[in-house]
Amino acid sequence: MNEIFYITTPIYYVNSHPHIGHAYTTIATDVLTRFRKLFGADTYFLTGTDEHGQKIAESAAKSGIEPQEFVDRISQEFRVMWPHLHIENDQFIRTTDPEHKACVQQILQKIYDQGEIYLKEYEGLYCVGCERFMDESELVDGNCPDHQNPPELHKEQNYFFGMSAYQDWLVAELEQNENWVYPARYRNELTQFLKAPLQDLCISRPKSRLEWGIELPFDKNFVTYVWFDALLNYASALGWPDGEKYKKYWPHVHHTIGKDILKTHGIYWPCMLKAAGMPVFKKLVVHGHWVVGGSKMSKSLGNVVDPLAMKDQLGVDALRYFLMRDMSFGEDANFTEELAITRYNGDLANNLGNLLNRSISMSRNNFEGCVPPLGEIGELEKDLRNSFSKGVETCREYILAFQPHRALEHVVWLSSLVNKYIDNCKPWSLAKQKEDRERLGTVLYTALDMTRILVGLLDPVMPEKMREARISLGLGTEGIPFEKLTHGLLESGTELPKPTPLFPKMQVPGAEKTPAKIQQKEKPTSAASDEGKEWFALEDFQKMELKVGHIRTCRKVEKSAKLLCSEVDLGEGRLRSIVSGAAEFYTPEELTNRRVLVVANLKTVKLMGEKSEGMILFSDDKGKLILIEAPDEVNPGVTVR
Ligand code: MSP
Repeated sequence: MNEIFYITTPIYYVNSHPHIGHAYTTIATDVLTRFRKLFGADTYFLTGTDEHGQKIAESAAKSGIEPQEFVDRISQEFRVMWPHLHIENDQFIRTTDPEHKACVQQILQKIYDQGEIYLKEYEGLYCVGCERFMDESELVDGNCPDHQNPPELHKEQNYFFGMSAYQDWLVAELEQNENWVYPARYRNELTQFLKAPLQDLCISRPKSRLEWGIELPFDKNFVTYVWFDALLNYASALGWPDGEKYKKYWPHVHHTIGKDILKTHGIYWPCMLKAAGMPVFKKLVVHGHWVVGGSKMSKSLGNVVDPLAMKDQLGVDALRYFLMRDMSFGEDANFTEELAITRYNGDLANNLGNLLNRSISMSRNNFEGCVPPLGEIGELEKDLRNSFSKGVETCREYILAFQPHRALEHVVWLSSLVNKYIDNCKPWSLAKQKEDRERLGTVLYTALDMTRILVGLLDPVMPEKMREARISLGLGTEGIPFEKLTHGLLESGTELPKPTPLFPKMQVPGAEKTPAKIQQKEKPTSAASDEGKEWFALEDFQKMELKVGHIRTCRKVEKSAKLLCSEVDLGEGRLRSIVSGAAEFYTPEELTNRRVLVVANLKTVKLMGEKSEGMILFSDDKGKLILIEAPDEVNPGVTVR
């Protein structure tokens, strides 16, 4: 039986227009769904909008229109945005849908009848931005740290859900199920939070203060607290309690969320599910935030990135690629146009696009416009086939582990292996000799066949571009099934249409470096230990380009006891060859797959006949070298300073 995979995005508040953060969560969920589909799963992907609560009511009032009209308008903006970003959700839920409202009321009634909801007078600090009461300990200088506003003091009678009764259960659940919340540090954050006593949850708002919400089924003077209403969308959408979809998909539910809503999903939600007698979610998958030029995106800073504007500039699929590739899932990442274009040029234009163009053009020119015949294969082809067989499986594992950035990094590496294979085999020279024709066919066939596998692996991320690539490879428009992502399945003699560059190179805006803002310090003269030392200016240091690299392969340099030669990924769409004098301290296997620091702008030199295009940094303790490693979550190519 096929695996079943149900995945959701948060439902977005309709008080703001869709921005790149919303787009990221939705694209990531789309990419994960498409990959699972490719692997053969029966998938269901839900997104939608969160339309009740004080924040929305206030925004509607500001716009001078009725809340319903207001939410209809903005919900529609989200709904129409997604297809523009090649998102294929199965359902779009709105919390103003009548079926959702009925579900919320039924669950509230059930928990009330169980005696787990009670009325009490309450005084607390409420942040409208977060739509929740906050502890004083959460405030920074009296403000909500996320919204930079002081919370409002609310004193009123309200209904409470006896959430505290579930604390021990939740702690045990988090302890027993290591993979319940991913990445692990968010699980730790929840465990840490649960060290303090859990409070009961206020789940109502008096209508005298807020009318825009779902009426409590047991007291018409109150509406439901917006989070209690919103979280239930994940189940109401499937037709809880006895809808066919609910029965089929609910046991396989995964939630993708941003780190800002960890507490509501990691604490409130499991307690609510437990009280309602529903199985808890299978996994909570938490990603970090996009920041812009190092600062949080915010309306007041005027740095909110509009996904449609970005898509017009980069193209939808390249935008999807950049978002998936540059954010290490779970960490924050920086969004700038320059980074996006640099990534595009490195991975897509120079690496994959170049591979497609040259392998198709050379095949067309030398084999009457068709895929060449495959002759006898040698060691080089065997090695490449081997890397690809392993590589396809590695990508699958990364996706199953919710690490799309890693999967893409691996695909790009595979692509650079094929480019390197072409460079080594020099088909342009083979084409000059008649007796090399069979070899020429084998090389070009191999390049095209491997490219076909890459195109299949990238389909979930860039569906439109990969459709174009399949047409260029003479494969037609249909996607390639996962079991066909294995070598040797390209048919010789297939006609290859004239290729048009899939990823033409782009100009990086303002490519010149920004001048350092830090002033040069005076040369110190007083400290005795500084005597005789040669000091140089910060600008001089900044001339050095320090980058994070990923050592892909490493081998001993022949006839040298000291030298190792590594192939290092610096996020440039090709691998650099770098020689280091570390053979007495590390075996090649020990260095392979390490993340390291690299001086990236040293002049290329030859050492014992090997090209060295940079320097890997080691600490040198009286001649003993120890590798300086970069954290695992930092992508190759990231600057070190
Ligand atoms: N309505 C609630 C969620 C209810 S789910 C039952 C909500 N909505 S929201 O409109 O504020 O969207 C929050 C989500 O948008 C975040 O969890 C995250 O997924 C995404 N992002 C918002 N800003 C973001 C960034 N700057 N970067 C990445 N994602 C961010 O909270």
